[in-house]
Amino acid sequence: MIEISKIKEVKLWLKPHLKKGLRIGFVPTMGALHEGHIRLIRQSKQENDITVCSIFVNPIQFNNQDDLVKYPRNLMLDARLLRNNGCDMLFSPEVEEMYPDGKTGNHDIEFGMLDKVMEGKFRPGHFKGVVIVVRKLFGIFSPSNAYFGKKDYQQLMVITRMKEILGLPVNIIGCETVREDDGLAMSSRNLRLTIGERQVARRIFEVLCKVREKGSKTPVWELREWAIKKIQEDSRFRVEYFEIADRETLMPVENWGQKTQAVALTAVYLGDVRLIDNVELFS
Ligand code: PAJ
Repeated sequence: MIEISKIKEVKLWLKPHLKKGLRIGFVPTMGALHEGHIRLIRQSKQENDITVCSIFVNPIQFNNQDDLVKYPRNLMLDARLLRNNGCDMLFSPEVEEMYPDGKTGNHDIEFGMLDKVMEGKFRPGHFKGVVIVVRKLFGIFSPSNAYFGKKDYQQLMVITRMKEILGLPVNIIGCETVREDDGLAMSSRNLRLTIGERQVARRIFEVLCKVREKGSKTPVWELREWAIKKIQEDSRFRVEYFEIADRETLMPVENWGQKTQAVALTAVYLGDVRLIDNVELFS
């Protein structure tokens, strides 16, 4: 695996591969890699000739400076993991390389409500930062396929919409959420839980599964209220949002009669740690 930190060098390295018409699979990340990320790498390896990964803790997508400062960084370990899993190139630029003189540019894409609900509402500016960096990374790599986890469901939908609006020649591929044995969605934030919190964290996925099970047999509003109450039965949890939404538009589903394909999404504070998760529902 080759490790590169400069955009110019990435383009130089890619040139002969692109000339040959090889398929580039791209996995953007912020590092602190775990099995969830590695699955994306493996899927990309299966579906492309070359797999490239970026590690860039993108400052402009953090609405909370404390979160940015605390974000775990361990490039050496990450590089080893990527190498062991057959990744061909790692791009890990400094902030100055991505945003020279602090200039991030703006994006002029109108997402309607898609980037304003849920994560967009509680993390203002977050998706703006994600869209700017992913668009820039796509420009650097010209990937045939780009891989994103359903763990960050709304992010996947925003990027998919961005691709459609800009007409980018890349396939956006959504991959299933990878979970710990007890069902907790893998996340670098899980390490910040205390031992006690970690033991009860499974509750989030358990309630989501129950919601999927109850599904269309229960009115949407009742299901939502039940879920919030159930999660918060343990006082260490505080639900920021719990929504049942259309899978593509992420607009709230009012009743099951609409025959929509729905997804249940939630953000929950467990102690100081903010966790997100979701499950797709079948109506
Ligand atoms: P990061 O949080 O590092 O996640 C990188 C990719 O891994 C995302 O597509 C995310 O959805 C996926 N991922 C994380 N945990 C997962 C899990 N448990 N199962 C499956 N996939 C998982 O998301 C970002 O970085 C950034 O916003 C980024 C897209 C890189 C832009 O800066």
